[in-house]
Amino acid sequence: MSIITVKDLTKIYVTGDIELRALDGVSFEIERGEFVCVMGPSGSGKSTMMNILGCLDVPTSGHYELDGLDVKDQDKAELADIRNQKLGFVFQGFNLLPKVDAVENVELPLLYRGVPSSARRKAAVKALEKVGLGQRLHHRPAQMSGGQQQRVAIARAIVGEAPIILADEPTGNLDTKTTVEIMNIFTDLHKQGITVILVTHEPEIATWSERVLRFRDGRLIADEAAPKLEELDSEAKTQGLGASV
Ligand SMILES: Nc1ncnc2c1ncn2[C@@H]1O[C@H](COP(=O)(O)OP(=O)(O)O)[C@@H](O)[C@H]1O
Ligand SMILES: [Mg+2]
Repeated sequence: MSIITVKDLTKIYVTGDIELRALDGVSFEIERGEFVCVMGPSGSGKSTMMNILGCLDVPTSGHYELDGLDVKDQDKAELADIRNQKLGFVFQGFNLLPKVDAVENVELPLLYRGVPSSARRKAAVKALEKVGLGQRLHHRPAQMSGGQQQRVAIARAIVGEAPIILADEPTGNLDTKTTVEIMNIFTDLHKQGITVILVTHEPEIATWSERVLRFRDGRLIADEAAPKLEELDSEAKTQGLGASV
């Protein structure tokens, strides 16, 4: 059974008397353990899609089944539980709490889940060690580089052992070297069996994944194997940004 099934999804935003179809009849399935990139020009509906997949927003019409659950049947509290148990989020802007340290940021999903404090701390430290931040446990976001902050965000996404990680342009604010480090972490998570769905507009980033869903004007225009680094132009290769498998 697919971990994600989307059928005829539409999302219409109404502003005044203007109707905008951010998503227009989108259907696809994602199997457990896949590493999928979502691509497309700005405004093509990528973030709208991710927000719906993440149960942060609801479609105007259509069907979304997440790990066997029809999302439409769930009330607000149930959706919050689903988000907490099944999904880890990583955003371009990191979205960390500025006033608390790395451990406390990472503990947050477990706090909402009611996990006792010592177990929370233990799991948070373990998640931070996994992303190579064992030496930065008590740094606050402002005391860390962008790459380190994004690692904290990834640790927060994996601390609850969610089977799905949703990442919306997670390397959008990072330099090439840091981007490679972050993509290596996503690759490791994929190897551990986590389903990774990552939005990017850079073809080099997509070479790390297995499959690409391409959006344009709210429609899914291609569902294809990820590009290989050799297939990209030489400029991309010399940037050293692609996956070196
Ligand atoms: N809350 C909103 N209200 C009105 N229009 C929106 C809203 N969110 C997104 N849109 C519009 O929907 C379209 C898709 O946006 P988005 O999903 O953010 O695209 P992408 O992430 O691919 O850049 C865009 O035209 C955008 O302006
Ligand atoms: Mg976007």
